[in-house]
Amino acid sequence: MEIFQAIRKDHEKQRLLMKILVDTSGETENRKEYFSELKEQLSQHAVAEERCFYSPLMESDKTIDDSRHGIAEHHEIEELVEKLEQTDMTSSAWLHHMKSLQELVLHHLAEEENEFFKHAGKVLSNQQKSDLAADYEKEMQAS
Ligand SMILES: [Fe+2]
Ligand SMILES: [Fe+2]
Repeated sequence: MEIFQAIRKDHEKQRLLMKILVDTSGETENRKEYFSELKEQLSQHAVAEERCFYSPLMESDKTIDDSRHGIAEHHEIEELVEKLEQTDMTSSAWLHHMKSLQELVLHHLAEEENEFFKHAGKVLSNQQKSDLAADYEKEMQAS
């Protein structure tokens, strides 16, 4: 497996969880469980992705900007997750913030998959692409 497929697989999990969450309402067990799963997925993925994908790509002039941009968006996502945690689930503001989070994350994932992956494909060797996939998987399992 290449690093791109490993990351895409987890992006799909995030997309699905967000799709479910924007259809929930009130402070239900369902909403709480899916939200806590999404939080886990987002934070574990960001850490593993920064270590096993962004970090080696910081070393090339062709991908340093993508890496920096991605890290800045990870922070924005984190801040929005914190905002959601501080918002009462029974208020309409919660769903409003959840929809903003979905929009931000979808934008981030699309940018990674459509632009960053394309640039990274030219920078990484085939060996690196598979080694990084193994590192990424290990990192995700460890967390
Ligand atoms: Fe990311
Ligand atoms: Fe990602």
